Amino acid sequence: MKLLTILEVLSLPCLISAATLTKVSNYGGTASKAEMWAYKPDNVKPNPALVVVIHSCQSSASSYFNNAKIPWKKGSDLGGYITVWPSSPNSGTCWDVSSSKSLKRDGGGDSTAIANMIKYAIPQYSVNASRVYVTGGSSGAMMGNVLAATYPDLIKAVSVYSGVAAGCFVGAGVAQWNNACSGGTSTKSQAQWAKVAQDMYPGYNGPRPKMQIWHGSADGTIAPQNYQEELKQWTGIFNVSMTATSSKTNTPESSYTTSDYGPNVEGIYGTGVGHSVPSHLKESEAWFSLP
Ligand SMILES: *[C@@H]1O[C@H](CO)[C@@H](O)[C@H](O)[C@H]1NC(C)=O
Ligand SMILES: *[C@@H]1O[C@H](CO)[C@@H](O)[C@H](O)[C@H]1NC(C)=O
Repeated sequence: MKLLTILEVLSLPCLISAATLTKVSNYGGTASKAEMWAYKPDNVKPNPALVVVIHSCQSSASSYFNNAKIPWKKGSDLGGYITVWPSSPNSGTCWDVSSSKSLKRDGGGDSTAIANMIKYAIPQYSVNASRVYVTGGSSGAMMGNVLAATYPDLIKAVSVYSGVAAGCFVGAGVAQWNNACSGGTSTKSQAQWAKVAQDMYPGYNGPRPKMQIWHGSADGTIAPQNYQEELKQWTGIFNVSMTATSSKTNTPESSYTTSDYGPNVEGIYGTGVGHSVPSHLKESEAWFSLP
């Protein structure tokens, strides 16, 4: 057995990891009081990608970061990309996916705050602006849909777990619960959902993020019908049929079905899977062309 040299020992990342989740106090803008937390791994690549990881209700940036089921710290360490972890300012820490402020580009709500975090992170960490990605679970997934509608120019791809279509949780105030939406009775046509998203950034005609949508058939919190409504919204946006171009059972694992609707919309449905679908790092990274 060969003895490790000092240099080899020093280069073992787990022994010398200095990287920590760090709060960024002045990321700019005057939008909601959402906090920005950032993680720059020790072995960050030149012109790294950025993944924005958005927590669920009753969570926070640091508890999501430290949650063993949330794999994005590991992804960041292994893949050498930056992760930004927004933290909700709202009571109960759900994201504001209901108010007119947040459901509008530059409306000054939580969506604008997260866009400001992205705009701050790009020069600060030398991020490749063409490689900005968003993921989240539950309320974080709802926000992922809202960001795709409000800031399509900033984001290349989105992978959301157990959320709802952008605009489905609409309400009278900030971070309102919407029983009709969570219960799966807020249904619309493809064209209607596409218009809801388009109206959040009127007149925009540029590229839009490709959408990977995960949901479980046994979701008792956010009814599985919301999977269909999200697919309608984004296939509507990309003007493609709701008939899948390819559908694979037992993919990426037993009891999940992966369906593609052209290159820009993918749905992954877990039969018997509840709320929220566990993060699948490998598949979300592949959707993001990471690492
Ligand atoms: C930025 O990302 C794009 C898309 O992946 C890539 O084509 C380009 O080479 C990258 N630029 C740098 C400076 O790494
Ligand atoms: C949507 O696609 C159809 C063909 O599938 C085409 O006729 C129509 O012009 C497209 N609409 C837009 C807005 O691109």
